[in-house]
Amino acid sequence: AKAPPCTLVIFGAHGDLTKRLLMPALYNLTGAGQLNDDFKVIGVDRVEGSDQSWRDELGKTMQEFTTDPNAEFYTPEINKDWWGGLTSRFEYMQADFTNLDQLGQLKQKVTGNAVFYLAVAGRFFGTIVENLGHVGLITQADNAFRRVVIEKPFGSDLESAKELNARILKVLDEGQVYRIDHFLGKETVQNILAMRFGNGVFEPLWRREYVDSVQITACETVGVEGRGAFYEPTGALRDMIPNHLFQLLAMVAMEPPNSFSAETVRNAKEQLFEAIRTITPENAIRGQYTAGKVQGRDVLAYRDSPGVAKDSNTETYVALKLDIDNWRWSGVPFYMRTGKSLTGRLTEVVVHFKQAPFAIFQDTPVDKLSPNNLTLNIQPTQGVTLGISAKIPGPKMDLGGVEMRFRYEDAFKLTPNVGYETLLYDCLTGDETLFQRADNIEAAWRVVDPALKAWAADASGPELYEAGTSGPKGADDLLARDGHAWMPLNRD
Ligand code: BG6
Repeated sequence: AKAPPCTLVIFGAHGDLTKRLLMPALYNLTGAGQLNDDFKVIGVDRVEGSDQSWRDELGKTMQEFTTDPNAEFYTPEINKDWWGGLTSRFEYMQADFTNLDQLGQLKQKVTGNAVFYLAVAGRFFGTIVENLGHVGLITQADNAFRRVVIEKPFGSDLESAKELNARILKVLDEGQVYRIDHFLGKETVQNILAMRFGNGVFEPLWRREYVDSVQITACETVGVEGRGAFYEPTGALRDMIPNHLFQLLAMVAMEPPNSFSAETVRNAKEQLFEAIRTITPENAIRGQYTAGKVQGRDVLAYRDSPGVAKDSNTETYVALKLDIDNWRWSGVPFYMRTGKSLTGRLTEVVVHFKQAPFAIFQDTPVDKLSPNNLTLNIQPTQGVTLGISAKIPGPKMDLGGVEMRFRYEDAFKLTPNVGYETLLYDCLTGDETLFQRADNIEAAWRVVDPALKAWAADASGPELYEAGTSGPKGADDLLARDGHAWMPLNRD
């Protein structure tokens, strides 16, 4: 169904996020016929420009980001009708959103339903929301809705996240706030819920009696690239853990919600997050890459990257061990890792089941049986893989490891998707299920806060790892302590 009529106001109209993700997503929503005939977009930024110059610039970046065969959201050719139809709804407004008079001018342009998208640096979130409040843009009247979409990182630690929530919630009701996490827009992330709660076979095994440990990985081959200014004060933990990786954790570990309604799902997440033990620094490993070769390409050390201090202690890699204190998961370690400039690009969740208790086969004793792992493949492969033991053909009762695989591209016709389509559509239709509630965010920060504090106080800095490897040795030691090992990053 088409979304209701709405004006989408994008703060940060010239920013990277707008070009790389929002535009391809709006384009795909146009192609799918999901935008209302009365949908329009107002781009706000400090840069001088006209409606046409903004459209032209976006046209160029759309071309660049989608029609290169190596682009993540590859489309061989941009459909001119879709793009033209979309951009004819675009208007540009040069304004400084910290200036109330300038922001006030938006008021004449915005009537009826509106979504304000804050595609700007985190330090502006509170100010923009307050200013929107001052100029009277977020009062919901005559059944019209006013919503605000807030990007990540939401705060930089527990205290600042609480402060930001408090500032925002003075102006907005929680129901008007859409804290976005693009991982929740990924098909394969939503599929974790489909796997768990759309099937009868997994859930009975999904507990401490049968699960040995869980690994959550979001590793990248890309480095900090041109994002030094953003990354330096942020680092891998703030960039990825309390948002993306905690959302994956929630999908895997929360109790079954009674329905897919926003509050029910977010209550289930909150219940899980409350049960996660606050981390102790020995369970948090940080690393930073030095120069090396990633897939044949020379990579500068993080400290030599543009916008990065020569003595930077910012981490580009994090590994954590988390404990969940509840009946389902007590004693099952959840390991998480994320990092940049690594040997492989891999986002996945692997549920390691316990070994068979006893093997009746002479030639394959129990410790030689292949482990039963259920892998929820998120990137680059999209699918689900179950590792099992099977008999190797021949006269002996020899067993070997094999895989049962479901691949999205085999089972479904895939259309290029940036993950923001669903989320934008949900903002327009008012479905908050896939957005983070204030308490969910604070609970995630509470868990990781001691690691951030310990690192800030420890001048020895992160452990260095060479670009193109699988990360710092400390991350391997973290698992080895429990007799475990990370799954290799370069698997088929
Ligand atoms: C972003 C982070 O939120 O997620 C980036 O800021 C990271 O540093 C990216 O590269 C990873 O997202 P994806 O969808 O490419 O896995």
